[in-house]
Amino acid sequence: MFCNGGATEPQRHYSTVVEQCQSANITSHKQLIMDIHNRVVIITGASSGIGAATARMFANEGARLVLAARREGALNQVAASLRPGTEAIVIPTDVGDEEAVKNLVDQALQRFGTIDVLVNNAGYGAFAPITDLSAEKFDDILRVNLRGVFLCTKYVLPHFYQKQAGSVVTVSSLAGKHGFSNGAAYCASKFGVMGLMESVFHEARSHNVRVITLTPGSVDTPFFDGAGVPVPNRDRIPQADEIAEVIRLAVALPERTLIRELDIRPTNPKG
Ligand SMILES: NC(=O)c1ccc[n+]([C@@H]2O[C@H](COP(=O)([O-])OP(=O)(O)OC[C@H]3O[C@@H](n4cnc5c(N)ncnc54)[C@H](OP(=O)(O)O)[C@@H]3O)[C@@H](O)[C@H]2O)c1
Repeated sequence: MFCNGGATEPQRHYSTVVEQCQSANITSHKQLIMDIHNRVVIITGASSGIGAATARMFANEGARLVLAARREGALNQVAASLRPGTEAIVIPTDVGDEEAVKNLVDQALQRFGTIDVLVNNAGYGAFAPITDLSAEKFDDILRVNLRGVFLCTKYVLPHFYQKQAGSVVTVSSLAGKHGFSNGAAYCASKFGVMGLMESVFHEARSHNVRVITLTPGSVDTPFFDGAGVPVPNRDRIPQADEIAEVIRLAVALPERTLIRELDIRPTNPKG
């Protein structure tokens, strides 16, 4: 439940909104924000980096979790690191595999009876000049980074539409807005994600479903090890748990509000 108190002017002070909500018998400002406690959250790419940090963040908020990625052992380790008492299930899933994604959504519904938030986070980087890029690598990065987002969103949305609620948070990248040398495959996949989710946003909003796309710059995670490139300015770029905090803020906004897209950059990359 929330109240916007008719506070349409951005400059109006927050306390005015709280006063208006109090006069409407809404006594706590906490009721202004969406309650994450007990929400059911599917996180893809939950075995590492941003996904693992997002799992820990949602667990600390009292959410119930569905952890998906390919490596079951790593998912189990993340599950074991969650706040004691957290309800979490591990579903080994290749997000590019349609049957695996259907199974992920089915298992989530069987276990918890509902889904409230989908975090489309699974993805990887591969960087090479186009002349050195194999067609197989190009196909695979689109299969995981783009088709994976397509499949997870496609199979979760009917449930969200049925209940006329839900949030889809997709971790794209600034590489979805800006091309760079050696980034042909990765940028193509992330530009694709931007077009995909911009379209889905228009479809989903009439069902009260929020489609939020985050475009981080560099984040200190194992992503760079997998891509075989050095981590840039490790001391300056955001840590995975800081991106998780941005996801928390985006999801916790009042249900009638939506951060459609959000660039996340280091405050001071060079120091
Ligand atoms: N780190 C950055 O600088 C940065 C910046 C902008 C955007 N991003 C995006 O953030 C997301 C998370 O990356 P990260 O930085 O946290 O990297 P990471 O630590 O390498 O995590 C990547 C995750 O994706 C999963 N994954 C990869 N292929 C998969 C597949 N086929 N099916 C299911 N899961 C798969 C991995 O799990 P398994 O290996 O167990 O499958 C892992 O959990 C990615 O989409 C990435 O493009 C990262």
